[in-house]
Amino acid sequence: AQNERDSLFIVLNFANEYFKKQLFDSDEGRSIGLSYFKERGFNEQTLKTFELGYSLDVWDGLLKEAKKKGHSEELLEKAGLILKQESKIYDRFRGRVMFPIQNVAGKVIAFGARTLRSDKKQPKYINSPETEVYHKSKILYGIHQARQAIRNEDLCYLVEGYTDVISMHQAGVQNVVASSGTSLTKEQVQLISRYTKNITVLYDGDSAGIKASFRGIDMILEHDLNVRAVVFPNGEDPDSFSRSMTSDAFREYLETNARDFITFKTDILTDGGKQTDPVKKVQVIREIIESISLIPDGIKRSVYISACADLLDVEEQVLLSELNKLLIKKQ
Ligand code: GTP
Ligand code: MN
Ligand code: MN
Ligand code: MN
Ligand code: MN
Repeated sequence: AQNERDSLFIVLNFANEYFKKQLFDSDEGRSIGLSYFKERGFNEQTLKTFELGYSLDVWDGLLKEAKKKGHSEELLEKAGLILKQESKIYDRFRGRVMFPIQNVAGKVIAFGARTLRSDKKQPKYINSPETEVYHKSKILYGIHQARQAIRNEDLCYLVEGYTDVISMHQAGVQNVVASSGTSLTKEQVQLISRYTKNITVLYDGDSAGIKASFRGIDMILEHDLNVRAVVFPNGEDPDSFSRSMTSDAFREYLETNARDFITFKTDILTDGGKQTDPVKKVQVIREIIESISLIPDGIKRSVYISACADLLDVEEQVLLSELNKLLIKKQ
């Protein structure tokens, strides 16, 4: 199977080179793809760093070129690059800007592809299917470009989307990876933990983003990493927000708004402290104790319990006894 993996890497690399070439050298790529990226504010260096590309709006652009170069249909299909339906065979990615997904070492293992149309007739993004070399639950977008910076900063920013990673890089924040719209997995947390034990979650400022950040926080706590989170104004994501201000102001915002998970959850669940209804307060406390109960390290649990007692103005003993009930249930 090593042979098969190598063949997949070769054909995926070929496809990546092909999509990059279309972006810069074809009329369609330049007038549609390149101008789209420019409008989003991506500069030349950024296009190169993330090896962005474009797939022509035709049925068999990649297929024809690949066959010319001697790649078999069978291999192209295994790589997730083409689709077969009865007698028809055609490119999976057509008329989209291309985001290659790379493994830690920088080998292309899959693609994300964004439509340029604003109608809702087709999904905004489509992705490669799972293949022998691409398991989406085990990879994080941007890890190749980020890993050294994650080590240096001893911190990893976690975002939702491709463009969040890219815009943050351009704003000078290179220690950033994306879960690409799926819930964070154990394998992804373990991948980050090779480089740092500190994660700051930067999910979109909408209800889906907040829900996803709660799930992500729990997954991170369960694996004994330290987690903080930043809230963005309603409707903003790291990409749009970073572009609405200078790079310095954006980095400053991240640093001053990263909250520990207890403060983050409390703020959101009590609507910034405005919500003082006791029934609601009980729910908030339960939510937070549940998160704390996931932390394997007893010292950390007790520190967080004190913090929670202070923040929400409840007896520490009460919190501890509730926490212990949860811990016993888990055994
Ligand atoms: P832009 O609209 O280009 O700024 O992208 P975004 O990253 O802000 O998109 P959004 O916040 O809607 O989604 C976050 C991430 O979820 C994306 O980067 C994709 O990885 C993924 N995603 C979003 N929409 C789809 C979709 O329709 N299909 C799939 N498979 N993934 C999606
Ligand atoms: Mn590289
Ligand atoms: Mn979103
Ligand atoms: Mn977004
Ligand atoms: Mn966005």
